[in-house]
Amino acid sequence: MEQYAIKGGNPLVGEVEIGGAKNAALPILAASVMTDDTVYIDNMPDVRDTNVLIKAMQEIGVSIERTGRHSVKINAGQINNLVVENESIKKIRAGYYLLGAMLGKYKHAEVALPGGCDIGCRAIDQHIKGFKALGAEVVIENGLIKTRAERLVGTHIYMDCVSVGATINVMMAATLAEGKTIIENAAKEPHVVDAANFLNSMGANIKGAGTDVIRIKGVAKLHGTEYTVIPDQIEAGTFMFAAAVTKGDVTVKNVIPKHLESISAKLIEIGCEIEESDDCMRVVASKPLKHTHVKTLPYPGFPTDMQPQITVALAIAGGTSIVTDTIFENRFKYVDELIRMGANIKVEGTTAIIEGIKRFSGANLFAPDLRAGAALVLAGLSAEDFTTVDDIHYIARGYEDFHLKLQSLGAQIELVSSERDLQKFKLKIS
Ligand code: UD1
Repeated sequence: MEQYAIKGGNPLVGEVEIGGAKNAALPILAASVMTDDTVYIDNMPDVRDTNVLIKAMQEIGVSIERTGRHSVKINAGQINNLVVENESIKKIRAGYYLLGAMLGKYKHAEVALPGGCDIGCRAIDQHIKGFKALGAEVVIENGLIKTRAERLVGTHIYMDCVSVGATINVMMAATLAEGKTIIENAAKEPHVVDAANFLNSMGANIKGAGTDVIRIKGVAKLHGTEYTVIPDQIEAGTFMFAAAVTKGDVTVKNVIPKHLESISAKLIEIGCEIEESDDCMRVVASKPLKHTHVKTLPYPGFPTDMQPQITVALAIAGGTSIVTDTIFENRFKYVDELIRMGANIKVEGTTAIIEGIKRFSGANLFAPDLRAGAALVLAGLSAEDFTTVDDIHYIARGYEDFHLKLQSLGAQIELVSSERDLQKFKLKIS
């Protein structure tokens, strides 16, 4: 059983290169089945979720070659199966992007119902509503979402809630529909824009991505392309908060500062200094952290995927803070772990009330999901004594070389797989 062993207390200092955005890479991978031509994608993160999707796509006949650690060459001209029910696809959420992509191209797709992190009810009704509005039939049977259409016809779709997944999925299907589609109340996240830019680079006609109205003129066919995935806003934000909680000085490189505005605004509020340049952000945390209030919201609001990381920082900030997650209703499970480290946090529904403590004490922790897992590692890095974090397979879903990047900033963290390794780590650093 692999776990992270951490000795807290070192301020993280230095520069760290941020990889491609997982949540952009996933729909882009899926969308690459929409052409028979070859597609080249760069800045593809080497994380578990992208690798699971790649494997599932290979199993239905898509040729995918990693030409480098972060570049893939994809050709979907020989797809031989429109049913995706690979065991591991059930564990990731983004498998559902193959529905929109294959429905658009083949007018038929069947994909295992999505899994993903257990952070609350994660409905897919808006995806289904969008496909049906375009003229598809959708049924859920034998654990599969099955969708089929004689033809797809562009239409006007109003999303009842702001959903990244539904916006991208419906946008993909509408790209190859006949006529014009308008998606209202669309998600505006950078990865929605990236997926639209990728489709446009293949010959799609999508306008308005990044606003809440997306207009798509259907085209008959898409062609090959070369594309670079945007940097990962959440990986960058996680390292920025790693600087904050360890009183460090970290520069995240290869980022788009605009995508990090809500994160850097909160870091400034809690007492950090931020220096911004073209594609770097430096976070200096030389003063004690201060309390604040946070509400997660769809982009450009503060991202729900950064909620656990800011809660960790506020748990060791002076004063009372309130964090509300308006996106997912069960995203505070990790708080029990922080309480075992001495945190003073009370969760009421979707709100956490935090009384800052001076410092966490080390403990043996379990990662309950991807982002909370990363946040617990941050807590361990700022804690007194040793911390272990188990179930780190969740973290591997979305962070590439997480502990290696932290080590390069001076963190005392190691991946251990036995009690013996753990004892060795403790001896080495004591
Ligand atoms: C995506 C991200 C996830 C991130 C989330 C919010 C991927 C693979 N995942 O998830 O990391 O935490 O955006 O930024 O990109 N909803 C419905 N009906 C639907 C769809 C969504 O009610 O059909 C609700 C959800 O229950 C949730 C909210 O809308 O409350 C947001 O969900 P959504 O934006 O779809 O999140 P995901 O696409 O699942």
